Amino acid sequence: MGTINRQHGGNLFKASQEYQRSQFLDFSANINPLGPPTSVLKAVEKNLAPLIANYPDPDCVQLKTVLAHYLEVRKEHILVGNGASELIFLLLKDLLPKKVFIPVPTFSEYSNAALASKAKIVQVPLKGEDFSILNDDFLAEAGKGDLVIICNPNNPTGQLFSKSALAKILTKAHERGFYVLLDESFMDFVENKPEFSFVEELDKHPQLFILYSLTKFFALPGLRIGVLLGEPQKIAELEGVKDPWNVNALAQIAGTVALQDREYMDKTFHYIQKAKKILYNDLQKIPGLKPFYPRANYIFCKLTNGSTSTELVQYLGKRGILVRNCNTYPLLGESYIRIAVKSLEHNEELIRNLMTWSQEMGGKHA
Ligand SMILES: Cc1ncc(COP(=O)(O)O)c(C=O)c1O
Repeated sequence: MGTINRQHGGNLFKASQEYQRSQFLDFSANINPLGPPTSVLKAVEKNLAPLIANYPDPDCVQLKTVLAHYLEVRKEHILVGNGASELIFLLLKDLLPKKVFIPVPTFSEYSNAALASKAKIVQVPLKGEDFSILNDDFLAEAGKGDLVIICNPNNPTGQLFSKSALAKILTKAHERGFYVLLDESFMDFVENKPEFSFVEELDKHPQLFILYSLTKFFALPGLRIGVLLGEPQKIAELEGVKDPWNVNALAQIAGTVALQDREYMDKTFHYIQKAKKILYNDLQKIPGLKPFYPRANYIFCKLTNGSTSTELVQYLGKRGILVRNCNTYPLLGESYIRIAVKSLEHNEELIRNLMTWSQEMGGKHA
């Protein structure tokens, strides 16, 4: 187990070189299609010169106050980072676990951070057709490490793990003294979020860290705002080993404004729910593709007509449409793609192209 895997969606520069075009409909990155809140753009524009001309607040006081209110946790539980990704690396470098358990397929930066911290990585295959089951084998195995990292809802599968399975792992973590990092970066998109999120249980589990990100839901990937929640003493320790100005001034004001924009949040949530249900239904009608019901804002699909994921990704790429090839994730081979939920209009465009692909493939494999 040993090489860095840095393949992610949303690499428009690479796509423009590969397909020799400048415009794409990008379904490969799971970003809110409504774009950043107007309130954020206005606040950044209005304060641009002083924000750039001064150091950012190293304590992120305003942003932490708003985060504490939004997430309903105490400020002492919060560490803010330059995106959630920075915090994964920071945590691993501080904990220096010897053995990290990661159920796969999942987001690749957990393994990359473990590699960077020289930990031994144990990738445990998820069970079930949609890779949604953390079974008892995993539970038995997890206790043998120092850290377990679980993405919930999981990327790229779009599935949620049951709260009871996660609770069992946390109980075991308490008994055996290992840490658990739960990545809830996509939790804002989930219907009935409180049923699945562990944020409100933070005080009960001193071994638990939770990751949160403003990148996806608030469409702010370029600004980099991520959050790590954990036991206050551990969070204070992490504060002490990070770069003092890791969250830039534009990101701080953007996060502070975004998290108070309830209108934007409601609009986003309802729009994505509606768009994803339509997209999921339409994808089900495409011969050769099996979508799995999405719990977040992206749809994991299996190819069932003999085409490889690379062939399909290239077919769409040449037509100016990007979807995520899942061939870089463990276990998935050349059989899966991930599609972000975009605007109703763009989703229809994707469906039209997929229907044509399916008809052409049907001809080839008949
Ligand atoms: C599951 C998951 N966690 C964290 C991240 C990183 O998010 P950020 O942009 O906040 O670094 C991603 C980005 O794709 C992700 O998919």
